[in-house]
Formats: sequence, structure tokens, C-alpha cells
Amino acid sequence: MASSSAKGKAPANGSNSDTPYELPWCVVEKYRPQVLDDIVGNSETIERLKVIAKDGNCPHIIISGMPGIGKTTSIHCLAHQLLGDAYKEGVLELNASDERGIDVVRNKIKAFAQKKVTLPPGRQKIVILDEADSMTPGAQQALRRTMEIYANTTRFALACNMSNKIIEPIQSRCAILRYAKLRDAEILKRLLEICDMEQVKYNDDGLTALIFTSEGDMRQAINNLQSTHSGFGFVSGDNVFKVCDQPHPIIVQTIMRACIKGDIDTAMEKLNELWDQGYSAVDIVVTIFRVVKTFDEIPEYTKLEYIKEIGFTHMRILEGVGTLIQLGGLMARLCKMNMKPELFKV
Ligand SMILES: Nc1ncnc2c1ncn2[C@@H]1O[C@H](COP(=O)(O)OP(=O)(O)O)[C@@H](O)[C@H]1O
Ligand SMILES: [Mg+2]
Repeated sequence: MASSSAKGKAPANGSNSDTPYELPWCVVEKYRPQVLDDIVGNSETIERLKVIAKDGNCPHIIISGMPGIGKTTSIHCLAHQLLGDAYKEGVLELNASDERGIDVVRNKIKAFAQKKVTLPPGRQKIVILDEADSMTPGAQQALRRTMEIYANTTRFALACNMSNKIIEPIQSRCAILRYAKLRDAEILKRLLEICDMEQVKYNDDGLTALIFTSEGDMRQAINNLQSTHSGFGFVSGDNVFKVCDQPHPIIVQTIMRACIKGDIDTAMEKLNELWDQGYSAVDIVVTIFRVVKTFDEIPEYTKLEYIKEIGFTHMRILEGVGTLIQLGGLMARLCKMNMKPELFKV
């Protein structure tokens, strides 16, 4: 997905132009949950963390999963609940923007592990390595000894998008917690809370659009909510899609309906409309996929065949052929699937 971020091609004609500069809602602490109880979704895994926070016996952990689903937040909440006031001395946090080469592992992390700190009884110091999959294998190798030698005073908490980027020896020393994408209802719940607290004006369409565009990524959902709110003053479906700069799924639905009927003319006309709005072939094909996936007007068998064709087209576009003809070809194949050849005999 090349351009799913909130780039905002829309004019800022909203009612909020008189408000001073506002802090981002989720990047800054404002709506970052402070305790494990406030984190939504992944309830079983969060329950486990709560038990750990209560008993205090924290193993080395790896939390892996897609962006924006609460990995970093969970680790911070856990560390706060484990260490309380001693958080400041008891935690060393390094994320991808910090230098984390072999030298840092050998010096800084080791020095921290050796440091004497007064902690609540039965607790250990915590080293947080956020976005650990961006550490080089070399640095990870240097880490494994430190993890073992100082395990009784220092525990490691790693967050990463892909756990397979963490070398095996570290994986085997850790409890691996996998976070799933957040469900629509879970994102909705949080969005509603924030709308309430920020007194955002919205309609149901707007919330549906936020959920659709965020694809289970809470950070994205909250950011888009804020962008729409500050850009337009009202969160409606249309405004959200303008801010998110994604093809409008309603148009894509029209295209799909035309394809099911074998009506290539309408399909192409609508496709041209999207193309003229400046969306790239990847944007369009990705939206087509996401619409088809949840479109209940297509019979199951046809849906599977459609997804297959969309997949092939996606692949060709990523290989470099992102032209209108490529997308037109997809339209033609989707239309053809529901046509009866007999009807075309001369
Ligand atoms: N499960 C969640 N519950 C509540 N808020 C969340 C959740 N996941 C993400 N957020 C919001 O998104 C922001 C980013 O979350 P973060 O934990 O940094 O994501 P990542 O998984 O990428 O580390 C948080 O500040 C918070 O506002
Ligand atoms: Mg993170």
C-alpha cells in the first residue's frame, strides 16, 4: 500500500482554523493507555501480561504483530505496573532511532544490567528493545549472552513486527506473545471514547470509513480521526476518504456490481473516474481487494475466483506494470467470469 497514510490532499476548510496548534492524539501520551486494563483487543495475551504485572515474575518477552496494535504501549504499561516509582532508574529503553549496534549491546546494555538499583522486592530491571527486528543479527548475537548472564537482575522486553527477524537463540530464551490485528468493534470502541472526550462531531458513515481505512491499525485510526476532525470539523465518510487519500469504496462497489453483471462499460467508466482522480494502480487494486473481501453481494464461489484474479493483477502491478490497461484487463476478466458464451454467438 503505497499511499495509505494521512497525506491530506483536501483543503483545510474546517471550522477549527482558530484553534492553536494541537498535539497529536496518539503519538503523544494523550490517548496512549497508561495501564494494561485500558488496552483493547488481544484479551488473552493482555490477561497474561496482567498476571505477570501482578506476580512480578516477568520472563524475557517478545511481543510481535502489525504496527499500531499496542505493542509498545503494552510493554510500557507492564514496566510501569511492575516497577512503579522505580521506573525511571529501572528501565532502559532503546528503540529503532537509537544506536543499537554491537557496541551498544556490549557497553550500554551490559553496564545497565550490572548497575545496582533499588527496586520493589522481587522485581527486576527491564530493558525495552522496541522495533527489535531492526537490530542487526550481529547485535542480536551479542545480546544473547547478556540476556543469560544477567537474567536474575534484568529482564528483556522486545517488540517487533516480525518475530522471524529475531534470531532463534533469542526467541528460545523468550516467551513470544503474538498480537493480532484489532477487530472492528475494538477500534470502534476506542474511537467512540475519543470522539466523546474531544467532542468530535461524526456520523456512522465516518466511523465506518475510519475503520475501513485503518485495517486494524489503531494508531492509523486515531490519526485519521484527528486529521479529519481538524481538517473538516466533521467526521463523515467522504471527509475521511479525502483525508486518507484512498479510493472511495462506494465507487469500487459500483465497479464490482457492474462486473458481476458483466457490464464492462460501466466498470471501465468508473475505473476511469478513479484513475482521473489520480490514484495509482496499487491504491486501486488494493481497495478492490478489500471491498471484494467483505462484499456480500458476490456469491462465495465467484468471490474466490475474483480474489484470485485480483491477486494476479496486484502481483503484475508490483512487478512494474501499473497501467490503466492492466486494471482494464482485470475488469475484463472479472466481467467475463459471469458471462454466458452462448449469448455471444453470431
Ligand atoms: N490495543 C490498543 N488499545 C488502545 N489504544 C491503542 C491500542 N493499540 C494502539 N493504540 C493507540 O495507538 C498508539 C500507538 O500504539 P503502539 O503501542 O505504539 O503501537 P505499536 O504496536 O506499533 O507499538 C497508542 O498511543 C494508542 O493511542
Ligand atoms: Mg511500537
